[in-house]
Amino acid sequence: MSLASLSNAPAQSVTPSLWHRVEGTMEQVAKLKFFNGLEMPMVGLGTWQARDDEVRQAVQQALECGYRHFDTATLYQNEEAIGDVLSKWISEGKVAREELFITTKLPTIGNRAEYVTKYLTTSLKKLQLSYVDLYLIHFPVGCIGKDENDLQPRDSEGKVVLDMDTDHESLWKAMEEQVDAGRAKSIGISNFNSAQVERIMKFCRIQPANHQVEIHAFHQQKELRAVCHKHNITMCAYGPLGAPYKEGAKQKPVLKHPVVTSMAARLGKTPAQILLRHLIQLNIVVIPKSSNPDRLKQNFEVFDFKLSDDDMRELDNLDQGIDGKLFIFSDSMIGVKKHPEFPFNIPF
Ligand code: A2P
Repeated sequence: MSLASLSNAPAQSVTPSLWHRVEGTMEQVAKLKFFNGLEMPMVGLGTWQARDDEVRQAVQQALECGYRHFDTATLYQNEEAIGDVLSKWISEGKVAREELFITTKLPTIGNRAEYVTKYLTTSLKKLQLSYVDLYLIHFPVGCIGKDENDLQPRDSEGKVVLDMDTDHESLWKAMEEQVDAGRAKSIGISNFNSAQVERIMKFCRIQPANHQVEIHAFHQQKELRAVCHKHNITMCAYGPLGAPYKEGAKQKPVLKHPVVTSMAARLGKTPAQILLRHLIQLNIVVIPKSSNPDRLKQNFEVFDFKLSDDDMRELDNLDQGIDGKLFIFSDSMIGVKKHPEFPFNIPF
């Protein structure tokens, strides 16, 4: 497929994607350009809920497949394992640091200006890197941990221990200082609502390069995407396959939806490839998580076909807006809705 065919992607495109050959492999991958000229590979490996040997193996296999983009977070507690594999590949000369794109995230207990350097420095040490490509504020709410290992602080009743004084302006200044100090090439946000994005845009000196939120065919975030598009903030989808591991979902997983399965059969692709390709053609970066070698490989093989305008429309029509949202943080974070910065008290 030509570069032109992907840059013809409809309205949501922020900047045209660029094609790159992955060094040392036969793979070609598209990248999305940030406002600052830096580029993010459009497919990365998500690593939430993968730890120790599971994540070590997944990163090793992903690198062999051609993945160069890896997404982690302090909260995932897998930075050390990921760092082990990356540093081995770098020291053996199999990959250069500049070919990799590494994202990690500030935990909620670090959502105060005075903590940002400490948490990023710790992440860099674990990842065995001198900089990350992208550092995100993981969640707009601040929490108070007993210490830096108390990543999901709860009181005796199981309620989240909230820091009611979260201040995005001073926090963002501290994020900007990470770019100044060379510890992060770009900075961004995750799980912010449109009002919080607009507010950051008012006071920022260095704007967010990327916003990572839940996006999949059932929850396409059209309104929030329009806000980010207006500010030239690229978007990254977590849960792009519709988080099939989520139990108690109201409906069949999107991977099994007849529109998706029949399109996959017609095009000789898997349902996952259809869902990922749909988001990629909307110029949304995807970070599907997999620890299974076959699925991991198929999730990367999404650059050799193109969905037609009709196919795109059919998939666009699966959107259920807010009803399609699968990650309801107030279930796992009891009491969090009370926080003034809880992002999901407004529609988008
Ligand atoms: P596994 O690790 O066993 O492959 P999401 O990225 O939307 O959160 O989804 C990740 C989940 O989807 C994981 O449970 C993962 O399981 C599963 N998964 C990843 N790739 C595929 C695929 N190509 N087809 C079906 N399920 C997949």
